[in-house]
Amino acid sequence: MADFDIRPTGGPIGAEIIGLDVSKPVSDTVFSDVESAFYRHSVVVIRDQTLSPAQLAAFSRRFGQPQANVRAEIQKGDVPEITLISNITENGKRIGSHDAGRYWHSDLCYLDKPSKLTLLHALEVPVRDGVAYGDTRFASMAAAYDALSDDLKEWIDGLKAANSYRYMWNKKAHEFGVRPVLSDKELEKYPPDAIHPVVRTHPVTGLKCLYVCEGYTRESVDMTEAESAAVLRQLFEHVVKPDFLYAHNWRLGDLLMWDNCAVQHKATFDYEPPLRRLMQRCTIEGSVPF
Ligand code: OGA
Ligand code: MN
Repeated sequence: MADFDIRPTGGPIGAEIIGLDVSKPVSDTVFSDVESAFYRHSVVVIRDQTLSPAQLAAFSRRFGQPQANVRAEIQKGDVPEITLISNITENGKRIGSHDAGRYWHSDLCYLDKPSKLTLLHALEVPVRDGVAYGDTRFASMAAAYDALSDDLKEWIDGLKAANSYRYMWNKKAHEFGVRPVLSDKELEKYPPDAIHPVVRTHPVTGLKCLYVCEGYTRESVDMTEAESAAVLRQLFEHVVKPDFLYAHNWRLGDLLMWDNCAVQHKATFDYEPPLRRLMQRCTIEGSVPF
């Protein structure tokens, strides 16, 4: 028995681990407890971590192969698998990504092998009057799939959809103005669309999970444009019903890990400078969705 506590939130998503320090090498037994909690609860926070980028990368590597981000400019200097998410500008230069998580999404679902999990570590949390802002919200894709009507389950069974980084890029550029609008030619340096099943089977738990998201899913490829728009609109509205949701309220030192097949997530932009938010992040390559 390891001497740390795993405390489930009691809802379909979420658990908290207290009393574990992952800055040092973690034994196989301890890692296996963390990994089981992760697959059982989909979103797990390990509290009170102090981690250098190299230490975050070392712990992350226990789960698999870190992914290089497609945007080299948000990398954190010396450790290529670590990127930054922040609202901080220094000397006129944005630190990390300023518009990550604007839409509901699953990380790197635009790749043939999307992220199995994401690890996000809180280096600075925006707090005013004792209240922490900038929650990350999660929606259970297994619960969302379960709750679909039998008719809709049958209708989407076997469908595939295009998940598109390029589509996301210009959607964000137009809506938020943090990144420049790019031409089709300029977008070619980013990955082409990935075609994935609309309902995927979780490779570890075997649960069926909805795998289309507002952020990246451009269209379902097996139907007319109008049919695709209608079914996607219906699914995007469905997945964010309150029953499927969990909000993570950040504390300094939280190391949050989420399962990108089991959940989608979205950032909450309810704070502004001079309040600062700074996160370091690592994503781990998963398998080809089926
Ligand atoms: C991410 C992301 C949301 C947040 O890091 O992948 O979407 O709340 N972050 O920062
Ligand atoms: Mn994300």
